[in-house]
Amino acid sequence: MEILDGKKISNQIKDEIAVEVTQLKERGEKVPHLAAVLVGNDGASLTYVGSKVRSCKKIGFESTLIHLPEETTEDELLSQVAALNSNADIDGYIVQLPLPEHIDEQKVLMAVDPDKDVDGFHPTNFGKMALDMKSFIPATPFGIMELLRRYDVDTEGKHTVVIGRSHIVGRPISILMSQKGKAANSTVTLTHSRTKDIKELTLQADIIVSALGVPNFLKADMVKEGVAIIDVGITRVPDETRERGYYITGDVDFEAVSKKASYITPVPGGVGPMTIAMLLKNTLLARERHQSTNN
Ligand code: GUN
Repeated sequence: MEILDGKKISNQIKDEIAVEVTQLKERGEKVPHLAAVLVGNDGASLTYVGSKVRSCKKIGFESTLIHLPEETTEDELLSQVAALNSNADIDGYIVQLPLPEHIDEQKVLMAVDPDKDVDGFHPTNFGKMALDMKSFIPATPFGIMELLRRYDVDTEGKHTVVIGRSHIVGRPISILMSQKGKAANSTVTLTHSRTKDIKELTLQADIIVSALGVPNFLKADMVKEGVAIIDVGITRVPDETRERGYYITGDVDFEAVSKKASYITPVPGGVGPMTIAMLLKNTLLARERHQSTNN
């Protein structure tokens, strides 16, 4: 069994990006600038956005955090999005999800300039991705693909079972892994809450991508020997014995499933850090694309 070490690989990717940033600076060129919009004070979102901004600093990107109060109206948020669209210094930005319930998420995501949509959530980017065109690929599935590529996990002709059909992970990863190319060419089954017998399907899987958010969902009796496991779940479980008051766990019973697996991602330290690295990669790409259209 080999651990797919997302922390290690994400550090490699960040180092590679940092080298490019140093070269840009040496040539006196603009460094990439990422902005993040956060509405409200959701604990997990605060952690993610904080981590994204810290990573920017570490690799030499400019970053801007726009933290708006929970009561922000949809119109106010749309004005903020319009301002980011027209700010030439910003190469890419994200609107952290989930948004408060009084704001229409789709309306906001539709308002983001697709050329600055480093999350890859705009329909233009999602559509291009599905059609094998150049686009921004959502950071979490992009991170999964990169992890599979860098560990040379054989996916060609293999049966991949994805658990969960979210727009952020399940749906896009099912598209990407069925496409042509490295870490792809897989036969994909996308399962969800209305799937009749998930276990029957996971037992046939060579690769399982679980993006459900239910701790201990995937147990050892649901997988076959030699399976490769990608655990995308990140759940905070209350625990008063810990200083933070919670611990983080994935969807997979790691202890038992790892004994049968050929590869497995830990939580934390697997897919999570890869997501941030790929967001930075997308921001670097956004800068390159803007520079080539401006010059
Ligand atoms: N919420 C959970 N994952 C993500 C992500 O990748 N991007 C944004 N913007 N919000 C999220």
